[in-house]
Amino acid sequence: QEVLHGALPGANVLVVSNREPYIHNHSALEKGIVVQRPASGLVSALEPIMRACGGTWIAHGSGSADRETVDEHDRIQVPESSAAYVLRRIWISEEEQDGYYYGFANEGLWPLCHIVFVRPTFRLSDWQMYQSINQRFADAVVAEARTDDPVVLVQDYHLALAPRMIRRRLPKATIITFWHIPWPNAETFGICPWKEDIIEGMLGSTIVGFHTQFHCNNFIEGVDRFVESRIERELQAVSLGGHETRIRPYPISIEWPPKELRQLPPAAECRSDLIKQFGLTECTRLIVGVERFDYTKGILDRMRAVDALLSRNPAWRDRLAFIQVAAPTRSKLNAYAKLQAEAEALAAEINERHHGRQDVIHLVPMHYEPADVFRLFRGADSCVVSSLHDGMNLVAKEFVSSRDDNEGVLILSSFAGASRELSEALIVNPYDTEEMASAIDRALSMPVEEQAERMRLMRQQIKENNVYRWAGAILLDAAKSRTRERVLSLA
Ligand code: F6P
Repeated sequence: QEVLHGALPGANVLVVSNREPYIHNHSALEKGIVVQRPASGLVSALEPIMRACGGTWIAHGSGSADRETVDEHDRIQVPESSAAYVLRRIWISEEEQDGYYYGFANEGLWPLCHIVFVRPTFRLSDWQMYQSINQRFADAVVAEARTDDPVVLVQDYHLALAPRMIRRRLPKATIITFWHIPWPNAETFGICPWKEDIIEGMLGSTIVGFHTQFHCNNFIEGVDRFVESRIERELQAVSLGGHETRIRPYPISIEWPPKELRQLPPAAECRSDLIKQFGLTECTRLIVGVERFDYTKGILDRMRAVDALLSRNPAWRDRLAFIQVAAPTRSKLNAYAKLQAEAEALAAEINERHHGRQDVIHLVPMHYEPADVFRLFRGADSCVVSSLHDGMNLVAKEFVSSRDDNEGVLILSSFAGASRELSEALIVNPYDTEEMASAIDRALSMPVEEQAERMRLMRQQIKENNVYRWAGAILLDAAKSRTRERVLSLA
Protein backbone atom coordinates (compact mmCIF):
# COMPACT_ATOMS: atom_id res chain seq x y z
CA GLN A 1 0.00 0.00 0.00
CA GLU A 2 2.89 2.35 0.78
CA VAL A 3 4.30 1.77 -2.70
CA LEU A 4 0.98 2.89 -4.15
CA HIS A 5 1.03 6.17 -2.31
CA GLY A 6 4.69 6.77 -3.05
CA ALA A 7 4.75 5.95 -6.77
CA LEU A 8 2.86 8.88 -8.22
CA PRO A 9 2.40 11.51 -5.53
CA GLY A 10 -0.30 14.01 -6.35
CA ALA A 11 -1.12 12.45 -9.73
CA ASN A 12 -4.67 12.52 -11.01
CA VAL A 13 -5.53 8.79 -11.25
CA LEU A 14 -8.47 7.62 -13.38
CA VAL A 15 -9.59 4.01 -13.78
CA VAL A 16 -11.76 3.21 -16.83
CA SER A 17 -13.68 -0.06 -17.13
CA ASN A 18 -16.97 -1.32 -18.44
CA ARG A 19 -17.99 -3.04 -15.18
CA GLU A 20 -18.67 -0.82 -12.17
CA PRO A 21 -17.56 -1.77 -8.66
CA TYR A 22 -20.93 -1.10 -7.00
CA ILE A 23 -24.32 -1.68 -8.63
CA HIS A 24 -27.41 -0.07 -7.12
CA ASN A 25 -30.64 -1.94 -7.80
CA HIS A 26 -34.26 -1.53 -6.77
CA SER A 27 -35.30 -4.38 -4.56
CA ALA A 28 -38.95 -5.44 -4.38
CA LEU A 29 -38.09 -7.69 -1.45
CA GLU A 30 -36.34 -5.10 0.69
CA LYS A 31 -38.49 -2.20 -0.60
CA GLY A 32 -35.66 0.15 -1.38
CA ILE A 33 -32.27 0.25 -3.05
CA VAL A 34 -29.74 -2.52 -2.53
CA VAL A 35 -26.04 -2.43 -3.40
CA GLN A 36 -24.51 -5.39 -5.21
CA ARG A 37 -20.82 -6.28 -5.68
CA PRO A 38 -20.53 -7.79 -9.16
CA ALA A 39 -18.90 -11.19 -9.78
CA SER A 40 -15.87 -9.79 -11.56
CA GLY A 41 -12.17 -10.52 -11.25
CA LEU A 42 -11.42 -7.03 -12.49
CA VAL A 43 -13.52 -5.44 -9.75
CA SER A 44 -12.11 -7.71 -6.99
CA ALA A 45 -8.60 -6.64 -7.98
CA LEU A 46 -9.09 -2.93 -8.68
CA GLU A 47 -11.46 -2.01 -5.86
CA PRO A 48 -8.95 -2.35 -2.99
CA ILE A 49 -6.47 -0.36 -5.07
CA MET A 50 -8.91 2.48 -5.53
CA ARG A 51 -9.82 2.39 -1.85
CA ALA A 52 -6.11 2.70 -1.08
CA CYS A 53 -5.12 5.45 -3.50
CA GLY A 54 -8.34 7.33 -4.30
CA GLY A 55 -9.12 8.99 -7.63
CA THR A 56 -11.97 8.57 -10.11
CA TRP A 57 -13.35 5.32 -11.51
CA ILE A 58 -15.32 5.69 -14.75
CA ALA A 59 -17.66 2.78 -15.53
CA HIS A 60 -20.95 1.86 -17.09
CA GLY A 61 -23.91 2.45 -14.74
CA SER A 62 -25.81 -0.82 -15.12
CA GLY A 63 -28.10 -1.06 -12.07
CA SER A 64 -31.81 -0.21 -12.10
CA ALA A 65 -31.29 2.40 -9.35
CA ASP A 66 -27.88 3.70 -10.46
CA ARG A 67 -29.28 6.96 -11.83
CA GLU A 68 -30.96 7.75 -8.51
CA THR A 69 -27.74 7.62 -6.54
CA VAL A 70 -25.54 9.97 -8.60
CA ASP A 71 -25.23 13.77 -8.45
CA GLU A 72 -25.81 16.10 -11.40
CA HIS A 73 -22.37 15.12 -12.81
CA ASP A 74 -23.25 11.40 -12.71
CA ARG A 75 -20.83 10.93 -9.79
CA ILE A 76 -21.09 9.15 -6.45
CA GLN A 77 -18.60 8.74 -3.59
CA VAL A 78 -17.83 5.07 -2.86
CA PRO A 79 -17.66 3.14 -0.65
CA GLU A 80 -20.28 5.48 0.78
CA SER A 81 -19.10 5.07 4.37
CA SER A 82 -15.48 6.11 3.86
CA ALA A 83 -15.78 8.26 0.69
CA ALA A 84 -12.55 6.77 -0.66
CA TYR A 85 -12.93 7.51 -4.36
CA VAL A 86 -15.37 8.87 -6.90
CA LEU A 87 -17.37 6.60 -9.18
CA ARG A 88 -18.38 8.39 -12.37
CA ARG A 89 -21.08 6.49 -14.19
CA ILE A 90 -21.69 6.68 -17.89
CA TRP A 91 -24.94 5.59 -19.48
CA ILE A 92 -25.34 3.14 -22.34
CA SER A 93 -28.73 2.40 -23.97
CA GLU A 94 -29.99 -1.15 -24.43
CA GLU A 95 -29.37 -0.98 -28.17
CA GLU A 96 -25.82 0.27 -27.64
CA GLN A 97 -25.23 -2.42 -25.03
CA ASP A 98 -26.38 -5.09 -27.50
CA GLY A 99 -23.78 -3.98 -30.04
CA TYR A 100 -20.86 -2.91 -27.86
CA TYR A 101 -21.03 -5.28 -24.86
CA TYR A 102 -23.02 -8.36 -25.91
CA GLY A 103 -22.01 -8.10 -29.56
CA PHE A 104 -18.43 -7.07 -30.29
CA ALA A 105 -16.93 -7.50 -26.80
CA ASN A 106 -18.63 -10.76 -25.81
CA GLU A 107 -19.54 -12.52 -29.05
CA GLY A 108 -16.38 -11.33 -30.85
CA LEU A 109 -13.38 -10.62 -28.61
CA TRP A 110 -14.27 -12.93 -25.68
CA PRO A 111 -14.38 -16.26 -27.63
CA LEU A 112 -11.59 -15.03 -29.94
CA CYS A 113 -9.15 -14.45 -27.08
CA HIS A 114 -10.09 -17.54 -25.03
CA ILE A 115 -9.78 -20.04 -27.92
CA VAL A 116 -12.51 -22.28 -26.48
CA PHE A 117 -14.06 -23.40 -29.75
CA VAL A 118 -17.03 -21.06 -29.58
CA ARG A 119 -16.88 -19.44 -32.99
CA PRO A 120 -16.38 -15.67 -32.65
CA THR A 121 -19.09 -13.59 -34.34
CA PHE A 122 -18.16 -10.29 -35.94
CA ARG A 123 -20.89 -7.91 -37.15
CA LEU A 124 -20.23 -4.50 -38.64
CA SER A 125 -23.05 -2.94 -36.59
CA ASP A 126 -21.52 -4.29 -33.32
CA TRP A 127 -18.14 -2.94 -34.31
CA GLN A 128 -19.62 0.52 -34.98
CA MET A 129 -21.30 0.49 -31.57
CA TYR A 130 -18.03 -0.64 -29.96
CA GLN A 131 -16.24 2.32 -31.58
CA SER A 132 -18.85 4.81 -30.46
CA ILE A 133 -18.97 3.56 -26.84
CA ASN A 134 -15.16 3.57 -26.64
CA GLN A 135 -15.35 7.20 -27.73
CA ARG A 136 -17.89 7.89 -24.95
CA PHE A 137 -15.52 6.45 -22.32
CA ALA A 138 -12.61 8.44 -23.78
CA ASP A 139 -14.70 11.65 -23.64
CA ALA A 140 -15.54 10.94 -20.00
CA VAL A 141 -11.82 10.55 -19.22
CA VAL A 142 -11.09 13.92 -20.83
CA ALA A 143 -13.97 15.52 -18.91
CA GLU A 144 -12.83 14.04 -15.58
CA ALA A 145 -9.09 14.83 -16.03
CA ARG A 146 -8.03 17.65 -13.69
CA THR A 147 -4.62 18.08 -15.35
CA ASP A 148 -3.28 17.64 -18.89
CA ASP A 149 -1.16 14.68 -17.75
CA PRO A 150 -3.43 12.35 -15.74
CA VAL A 151 -2.63 8.70 -15.06
CA VAL A 152 -5.34 6.70 -16.81
CA LEU A 153 -5.79 3.00 -16.07
CA VAL A 154 -7.82 1.49 -18.90
CA GLN A 155 -9.23 -1.94 -18.04
CA ASP A 156 -9.93 -4.83 -20.38
CA TYR A 157 -11.14 -5.89 -23.78
CA HIS A 158 -14.24 -3.68 -23.80
CA LEU A 159 -12.06 -0.61 -24.24
CA ALA A 160 -9.30 -1.49 -26.73
CA LEU A 161 -9.84 1.65 -28.80
CA ALA A 162 -10.06 4.12 -25.91
CA PRO A 163 -6.26 4.50 -25.34
CA ARG A 164 -5.63 6.04 -28.80
CA MET A 165 -8.76 8.19 -28.50
CA ILE A 166 -7.57 9.51 -25.12
CA ARG A 167 -4.00 10.02 -26.40
CA ARG A 168 -5.27 12.25 -29.24
CA ARG A 169 -6.91 14.62 -26.76
CA LEU A 170 -4.44 14.31 -23.86
CA PRO A 171 -1.04 13.69 -25.51
CA LYS A 172 0.81 14.01 -22.17
CA ALA A 173 -1.35 11.47 -20.31
CA THR A 174 0.22 8.31 -18.89
CA ILE A 175 -2.13 5.63 -20.17
CA ILE A 176 -1.82 2.09 -18.85
CA THR A 177 -4.02 -0.52 -20.45
CA PHE A 178 -4.47 -3.80 -18.65
CA TRP A 179 -5.91 -6.73 -20.64
CA HIS A 180 -7.58 -9.07 -18.12
CA ILE A 181 -8.13 -11.97 -20.53
CA PRO A 182 -5.66 -14.01 -22.60
CA TRP A 183 -4.17 -12.67 -25.83
CA PRO A 184 -4.10 -15.38 -28.52
CA ASN A 185 -1.38 -16.07 -31.08
CA ALA A 186 -1.29 -14.02 -34.29
CA GLU A 187 -2.86 -16.81 -36.35
CA THR A 188 -5.93 -16.78 -34.12
CA PHE A 189 -6.14 -13.02 -33.63
CA GLY A 190 -5.94 -12.63 -37.41
CA ILE A 191 -9.58 -13.84 -37.64
CA CYS A 192 -10.78 -10.46 -36.36
CA PRO A 193 -11.75 -8.21 -39.30
CA TRP A 194 -10.66 -5.12 -37.33
CA LYS A 195 -7.43 -6.52 -35.87
CA GLU A 196 -5.31 -3.55 -37.02
CA ASP A 197 -7.69 -1.01 -35.42
CA ILE A 198 -7.74 -2.94 -32.13
CA ILE A 199 -3.94 -3.17 -31.96
CA GLU A 200 -3.44 0.46 -33.00
CA GLY A 201 -6.03 1.54 -30.44
CA MET A 202 -4.11 -0.24 -27.68
CA LEU A 203 -0.82 1.22 -28.87
CA GLY A 204 -2.11 4.65 -27.82
CA SER A 205 -1.11 3.45 -24.32
CA THR A 206 2.14 4.16 -22.53
CA ILE A 207 2.16 0.58 -21.24
CA VAL A 208 0.05 -2.43 -22.24
CA GLY A 209 -0.07 -5.08 -19.50
CA PHE A 210 -1.03 -8.75 -19.60
CA HIS A 211 -1.06 -11.41 -16.86
CA THR A 212 1.76 -13.48 -18.37
CA GLN A 213 4.88 -13.09 -20.50
CA PHE A 214 3.34 -15.60 -22.89
CA HIS A 215 0.45 -13.22 -23.66
CA CYS A 216 2.91 -10.32 -24.07
CA ASN A 217 4.80 -12.41 -26.63
CA ASN A 218 1.58 -13.22 -28.48
CA PHE A 219 0.67 -9.51 -28.57
CA ILE A 220 4.08 -8.49 -29.92
CA GLU A 221 3.82 -11.25 -32.53
CA GLY A 222 0.40 -9.82 -33.57
CA VAL A 223 1.82 -6.28 -33.80
CA ASP A 224 4.64 -7.61 -35.95
CA ARG A 225 2.21 -9.41 -38.27
CA PHE A 226 -0.50 -6.79 -38.67
CA VAL A 227 0.80 -3.26 -38.00
CA GLU A 228 3.61 -1.22 -39.63
CA SER A 229 5.66 -0.31 -36.57
CA ARG A 230 9.13 -0.54 -35.02
CA ILE A 231 9.59 -3.31 -32.47
CA GLU A 232 12.49 -3.44 -30.01
CA ARG A 233 12.22 -6.97 -28.72
CA GLU A 234 14.83 -6.63 -25.93
CA LEU A 235 12.90 -3.73 -24.42
CA GLN A 236 9.51 -5.19 -25.33
CA ALA A 237 8.72 -1.81 -26.88
CA VAL A 238 6.67 -0.90 -29.95
CA SER A 239 6.83 2.50 -31.68
CA LEU A 240 3.95 3.62 -33.86
CA GLY A 241 3.73 7.12 -35.34
CA GLY A 242 6.48 8.41 -33.02
CA HIS A 243 4.78 7.12 -29.86
CA GLU A 244 6.36 4.30 -27.84
CA THR A 245 4.42 1.63 -25.94
CA ARG A 246 6.00 -0.87 -23.55
CA ILE A 247 4.46 -4.36 -23.29
CA ARG A 248 4.75 -5.88 -19.81
CA PRO A 249 3.54 -8.85 -17.73
CA TYR A 250 1.82 -7.96 -14.43
CA PRO A 251 0.21 -11.04 -12.82
CA ILE A 252 -2.89 -9.73 -11.07
CA SER A 253 -3.76 -10.79 -7.54
CA ILE A 254 -6.05 -10.16 -4.58
CA GLU A 255 -6.09 -8.07 -1.43
CA TRP A 256 -4.13 -9.65 1.44
CA PRO A 257 -5.55 -10.41 3.87
CA PRO A 258 -8.95 -10.21 2.18
CA LYS A 259 -11.33 -7.99 4.12
CA GLU A 260 -14.03 -10.72 4.01
CA LEU A 261 -11.94 -12.85 6.42
CA ARG A 262 -12.44 -10.40 9.25
CA GLN A 263 -16.00 -11.49 9.98
CA LEU A 264 -15.90 -15.14 9.01
CA PRO A 265 -16.68 -18.00 11.40
CA PRO A 266 -14.15 -20.85 11.77
CA ALA A 267 -13.91 -23.48 9.00
CA ALA A 268 -15.76 -26.15 11.02
CA GLU A 269 -18.74 -23.86 11.46
CA CYS A 270 -18.77 -22.94 7.75
CA ARG A 271 -18.69 -26.63 6.94
CA SER A 272 -21.57 -27.61 9.19
CA ASP A 273 -23.64 -24.70 7.82
CA LEU A 274 -23.10 -26.05 4.29
CA ILE A 275 -23.98 -29.60 5.35
CA LYS A 276 -27.24 -28.27 6.82
CA GLN A 277 -28.00 -25.92 3.92
CA PHE A 278 -27.66 -28.66 1.30
CA GLY A 279 -29.25 -31.40 3.40
CA LEU A 280 -26.16 -33.63 3.42
CA THR A 281 -25.00 -36.28 5.84
CA GLU A 282 -22.36 -35.24 8.37
CA CYS A 283 -19.52 -37.27 6.79
CA THR A 284 -19.97 -35.87 3.26
CA ARG A 285 -16.79 -34.50 1.67
CA LEU A 286 -17.40 -31.15 -0.03
CA ILE A 287 -15.98 -30.01 -3.37
CA VAL A 288 -16.90 -26.51 -4.48
CA GLY A 289 -16.71 -24.36 -7.59
CA VAL A 290 -17.62 -20.68 -7.86
CA GLU A 291 -17.75 -18.64 -11.03
CA ARG A 292 -19.85 -16.79 -13.51
CA PHE A 293 -21.84 -19.22 -15.68
CA ASP A 294 -19.34 -18.90 -18.51
CA TYR A 295 -18.31 -21.47 -21.12
CA THR A 296 -14.62 -20.64 -20.59
CA LYS A 297 -14.72 -21.95 -17.00
CA GLY A 298 -15.02 -25.69 -17.73
CA ILE A 299 -18.10 -26.17 -15.51
CA LEU A 300 -19.41 -29.16 -17.53
CA ASP A 301 -15.92 -30.67 -17.56
CA ARG A 302 -15.61 -30.74 -13.77
CA MET A 303 -19.10 -32.24 -13.45
CA ARG A 304 -18.05 -34.97 -15.89
CA ALA A 305 -14.97 -35.61 -13.75
CA VAL A 306 -17.12 -36.11 -10.62
CA ASP A 307 -19.29 -38.44 -12.69
CA ALA A 308 -16.24 -40.41 -13.85
CA LEU A 309 -14.91 -40.69 -10.30
CA LEU A 310 -18.21 -42.09 -9.01
CA SER A 311 -18.42 -44.56 -11.90
CA ARG A 312 -14.87 -45.66 -11.32
CA ASN A 313 -15.16 -45.79 -7.55
CA PRO A 314 -18.77 -46.20 -6.37
CA ALA A 315 -17.56 -46.22 -2.76
CA TRP A 316 -17.68 -42.41 -3.00
CA ARG A 317 -21.46 -42.49 -3.53
CA ASP A 318 -23.24 -40.57 -0.74
CA ARG A 319 -19.83 -39.59 0.61
CA LEU A 320 -19.09 -36.63 -1.62
CA ALA A 321 -21.04 -33.63 -2.86
CA PHE A 322 -20.08 -31.09 -5.47
CA ILE A 323 -21.53 -27.62 -4.92
CA GLN A 324 -21.25 -25.40 -7.97
CA VAL A 325 -22.27 -21.79 -7.53
CA ALA A 326 -22.56 -20.18 -10.96
CA ALA A 327 -23.70 -16.59 -11.30
CA PRO A 328 -25.81 -16.17 -14.44
CA THR A 329 -24.04 -13.81 -16.80
CA ARG A 330 -24.56 -12.45 -20.33
CA SER A 331 -27.69 -14.63 -20.46
CA LYS A 332 -28.96 -12.76 -23.53
CA LEU A 333 -26.34 -14.59 -25.56
CA ASN A 334 -27.12 -18.01 -26.98
CA ALA A 335 -23.85 -19.65 -25.95
CA TYR A 336 -24.52 -18.68 -22.30
CA ALA A 337 -28.18 -19.71 -22.20
CA LYS A 338 -27.21 -23.01 -23.84
CA LEU A 339 -24.45 -23.67 -21.30
CA GLN A 340 -26.79 -23.14 -18.36
CA ALA A 341 -29.38 -25.51 -19.86
CA GLU A 342 -26.70 -28.12 -20.58
CA ALA A 343 -25.27 -27.85 -17.08
CA GLU A 344 -28.70 -28.28 -15.50
CA ALA A 345 -29.43 -31.34 -17.68
CA LEU A 346 -26.01 -32.86 -16.94
CA ALA A 347 -26.42 -32.32 -13.18
CA ALA A 348 -29.80 -34.08 -13.28
CA GLU A 349 -28.35 -36.94 -15.35
CA ILE A 350 -25.40 -37.46 -12.97
CA ASN A 351 -27.64 -37.29 -9.90
CA GLU A 352 -29.89 -39.88 -11.48
CA ARG A 353 -26.98 -42.17 -12.42
CA HIS A 354 -25.45 -42.14 -8.94
CA HIS A 355 -28.67 -41.90 -7.03
CA GLY A 356 -28.32 -42.75 -3.37
CA ARG A 357 -29.49 -41.06 -0.16
CA GLN A 358 -28.47 -37.61 -1.40
CA ASP A 359 -27.66 -35.76 -4.63
CA VAL A 360 -24.03 -35.57 -5.68
CA ILE A 361 -24.22 -32.39 -7.83
CA HIS A 362 -25.73 -29.25 -6.33
CA LEU A 363 -25.94 -26.58 -8.99
CA VAL A 364 -26.73 -23.13 -7.59
CA PRO A 365 -27.33 -20.77 -10.52
CA MET A 366 -27.13 -17.54 -8.58
CA HIS A 367 -24.86 -14.70 -7.57
CA TYR A 368 -23.22 -14.97 -4.13
CA GLU A 369 -21.93 -11.86 -2.39
CA PRO A 370 -18.20 -12.08 -1.44
CA ALA A 371 -18.86 -13.00 2.22
CA ASP A 372 -20.98 -16.00 1.15
CA VAL A 373 -18.34 -17.09 -1.36
CA PHE A 374 -15.71 -17.05 1.39
CA ARG A 375 -17.97 -19.07 3.70
CA LEU A 376 -18.34 -21.68 0.96
CA PHE A 377 -14.57 -21.80 0.41
CA ARG A 378 -13.86 -22.19 4.10
CA GLY A 379 -16.28 -25.05 4.55
CA ALA A 380 -14.97 -27.06 1.58
CA ASP A 381 -12.50 -29.94 1.38
CA SER A 382 -11.51 -28.96 -2.12
CA CYS A 383 -12.11 -26.22 -4.70
CA VAL A 384 -12.02 -26.93 -8.44
CA VAL A 385 -10.98 -24.25 -10.93
CA SER A 386 -11.06 -25.97 -14.32
CA SER A 387 -10.99 -23.05 -16.77
CA LEU A 388 -10.48 -24.11 -20.38
CA HIS A 389 -8.49 -20.89 -20.75
CA ASP A 390 -8.23 -17.97 -18.34
CA GLY A 391 -6.04 -14.87 -18.09
CA MET A 392 -5.37 -15.35 -14.35
CA ASN A 393 -8.44 -16.59 -12.40
CA LEU A 394 -8.76 -14.94 -9.02
CA VAL A 395 -11.15 -17.56 -7.62
CA ALA A 396 -8.12 -19.85 -7.20
CA LYS A 397 -6.33 -17.16 -5.16
CA GLU A 398 -9.44 -16.31 -3.14
CA PHE A 399 -9.92 -19.95 -2.15
CA VAL A 400 -6.35 -20.12 -0.86
CA SER A 401 -6.72 -16.79 0.95
CA SER A 402 -9.85 -18.02 2.74
CA ARG A 403 -7.99 -21.00 4.28
CA ASP A 404 -6.10 -19.54 7.22
CA ASP A 405 -6.63 -22.98 8.80
CA ASN A 406 -4.18 -24.31 6.14
CA GLU A 407 -6.61 -27.02 5.06
CA GLY A 408 -8.35 -27.71 1.77
CA VAL A 409 -6.96 -28.66 -1.64
CA LEU A 410 -7.01 -26.53 -4.76
CA ILE A 411 -7.47 -28.33 -8.09
CA LEU A 412 -6.36 -25.92 -10.80
CA SER A 413 -6.37 -25.90 -14.59
CA SER A 414 -2.99 -25.62 -16.27
CA PHE A 415 -4.69 -23.20 -18.72
CA ALA A 416 -5.40 -20.58 -16.04
CA GLY A 417 -2.65 -17.96 -15.56
CA ALA A 418 -2.83 -18.70 -11.81
CA SER A 419 -1.26 -22.13 -12.38
CA ARG A 420 2.09 -20.42 -13.10
CA GLU A 421 2.15 -19.08 -9.54
CA LEU A 422 0.21 -21.68 -7.55
CA SER A 423 2.26 -24.72 -8.46
CA GLU A 424 1.38 -26.51 -5.18
CA ALA A 425 -2.21 -26.90 -6.37
CA LEU A 426 -3.11 -30.18 -8.07
CA ILE A 427 -2.61 -29.00 -11.65
CA VAL A 428 -4.92 -30.61 -14.21
CA ASN A 429 -5.84 -30.55 -17.88
CA PRO A 430 -9.60 -29.89 -17.80
CA TYR A 431 -10.01 -31.57 -21.19
CA ASP A 432 -8.80 -34.83 -19.59
CA THR A 433 -11.78 -36.12 -17.58
CA GLU A 434 -9.98 -39.12 -16.13
CA GLU A 435 -7.05 -37.01 -14.95
CA MET A 436 -9.43 -34.60 -13.25
CA ALA A 437 -11.33 -37.48 -11.64
CA SER A 438 -8.03 -38.77 -10.23
CA ALA A 439 -7.18 -35.30 -8.94
CA ILE A 440 -10.50 -35.09 -7.08
CA ASP A 441 -9.88 -38.53 -5.60
CA ARG A 442 -6.39 -37.49 -4.54
CA ALA A 443 -7.62 -34.19 -3.08
CA LEU A 444 -10.23 -35.92 -0.95
CA SER A 445 -7.73 -38.50 0.27
CA MET A 446 -4.82 -36.12 0.93
CA PRO A 447 -3.34 -36.22 4.47
CA VAL A 448 -3.83 -32.95 6.38
CA GLU A 449 -0.05 -32.51 6.74
CA GLU A 450 0.36 -32.45 2.96
CA GLN A 451 -2.63 -30.11 2.60
CA ALA A 452 -1.06 -27.76 5.12
CA GLU A 453 2.32 -27.78 3.43
CA ARG A 454 0.83 -26.98 0.02
CA MET A 455 -1.53 -24.39 1.45
CA ARG A 456 1.23 -22.59 3.38
CA LEU A 457 3.38 -22.27 0.27
CA MET A 458 0.51 -20.97 -1.84
CA ARG A 459 -0.58 -18.53 0.89
CA GLN A 460 2.95 -17.17 1.14
CA GLN A 461 3.08 -16.73 -2.64
CA ILE A 462 -0.18 -14.73 -2.70
CA LYS A 463 0.70 -12.77 0.41
CA GLU A 464 3.98 -11.63 -1.18
CA ASN A 465 2.44 -11.03 -4.60
CA ASN A 466 -0.83 -9.44 -3.55
CA VAL A 467 -2.84 -6.93 -5.57
CA TYR A 468 -0.97 -3.98 -4.02
CA ARG A 469 2.24 -5.43 -5.43
CA TRP A 470 0.51 -5.75 -8.83
CA ALA A 471 -0.68 -2.14 -8.81
CA GLY A 472 2.62 -0.98 -7.31
CA ALA A 473 4.59 -2.56 -10.16
CA ILE A 474 2.33 -0.89 -12.73
CA LEU A 475 2.43 2.51 -11.06
CA LEU A 476 6.20 2.39 -10.57
CA ASP A 477 6.62 1.69 -14.29
CA ALA A 478 4.20 4.54 -14.98
CA ALA A 479 6.27 6.85 -12.76
CA LYS A 480 9.50 5.82 -14.54
CA SER A 481 7.96 6.51 -17.91
CA ARG A 482 6.72 9.95 -16.75
CA THR A 483 10.23 10.82 -15.60
CA ARG A 484 11.69 9.64 -18.91
CA GLU A 485 9.17 11.70 -20.92
CA ARG A 486 9.88 14.77 -18.78
CA VAL A 487 13.65 14.42 -19.13
CA LEU A 488 13.45 13.80 -22.89
CA SER A 489 11.16 16.79 -23.43
CA LEU A 490 13.67 19.06 -21.63
CA ALA A 491 16.62 17.83 -23.74
O1 F6P B 1 -11.87 -11.77 -16.95
C1 F6P B 1 -12.14 -10.53 -17.45
C2 F6P B 1 -13.37 -9.92 -16.86
O2 F6P B 1 -13.48 -8.58 -17.20
C3 F6P B 1 -13.41 -10.07 -15.33
O3 F6P B 1 -13.49 -8.88 -14.68
C4 F6P B 1 -14.68 -10.76 -15.05
O4 F6P B 1 -14.42 -12.02 -14.56
C5 F6P B 1 -15.41 -10.78 -16.35
O5 F6P B 1 -14.52 -10.57 -17.36
C6 F6P B 1 -16.42 -9.71 -16.35
O6 F6P B 1 -17.55 -10.05 -16.94
P1 F6P B 1 -18.73 -9.01 -17.08
O7 F6P B 1 -18.23 -7.66 -16.70
O8 F6P B 1 -19.12 -9.13 -18.50
O9 F6P B 1 -19.78 -9.51 -16.14
